[in-house]
Amino acid sequence: MPSHAYINNKFVSFKNAKIHIEDRGLQFADSVYEVIAVLNGNLIDLDFHLKRLRYSLKELKISYKFNKLDFKNIFHKLLGKNRISNGIIYLQITRGVQYREHKYKNKLIPTLIIYSRNKKFNLPGKNFKGVNTITFEDLRWKRRDIKTVNLLPNIIAANKAKQKNAYEAILLQDGKVTEGTSSNIWIIKKNNLITHPANSDILKGVTRTSLLKIIKKTSLKLVEKSFTHKQLLEADEVFLTSSGSFITPILKIDKKKINKGKIGNITLKLAKMYTTSCTNG
Ligand SMILES: Cc1ncc(COP(=O)(O)O)c(C=O)c1O
Repeated sequence: MPSHAYINNKFVSFKNAKIHIEDRGLQFADSVYEVIAVLNGNLIDLDFHLKRLRYSLKELKISYKFNKLDFKNIFHKLLGKNRISNGIIYLQITRGVQYREHKYKNKLIPTLIIYSRNKKFNLPGKNFKGVNTITFEDLRWKRRDIKTVNLLPNIIAANKAKQKNAYEAILLQDGKVTEGTSSNIWIIKKNNLITHPANSDILKGVTRTSLLKIIKKTSLKLVEKSFTHKQLLEADEVFLTSSGSFITPILKIDKKKINKGKIGNITLKLAKMYTTSCTNG
């Protein structure tokens, strides 16, 4: 267990960290969050995370001002106190505390929650692994571009995956793939790398954004277009991206093996390029 968390303006003991029972984050999921990977003490893709955090806050009209340097200081102090060099920073901002009513008052003071946890990442190398997945209906609301803690449909699907010994559930809407419960999904067919466009049907992943930059250095043709369940199953290679899983190959979807159940060459190459970009800052 980590020793410290940061709540509002203070470092507190993780074990005794508390928020109010009428916090709107607790009662209404009226709250946004980010999960930032930490690799060898480096905060991965921090700028993209903070940009998306600003976007989520703006879309929900939660007025919380922050600057990058302050957050960076808090993150590094927390990592130091918790002795973490590989793991994640979890950051959540709720609209604040108010008597329970759907309508919110304008001048609430947002609640800030930050903590860190150890985590081992799936990095290319001798222990690099591919995962099994299932498909599941996408039951979510229509603003998936906002990173809110309103995650029940994701939780239902992820636990269905767990029941089937799968790592992730790939979500389907009208026969098309949107994304995973906590990841973006990519397929490779010939020289095409296909992923869902970043509109309100998916979360614009930070890892996705970073990978888009890397793809420009390859001869792959990027296609940001939604693809069908059939295309998914017939892909040469499939992988997922997220801050917690980096680039993770998908070897099986429901009962169908992808690339004969082996990690594909292109996925491996992209995973290596992404990891190198992380270690080089
Ligand atoms: C629904 C969803 N899509 C995609 C992602 C991947 O985003 P990122 O690469 O920013 O972690 C996540 C991450 O948690 C997610 O929850």
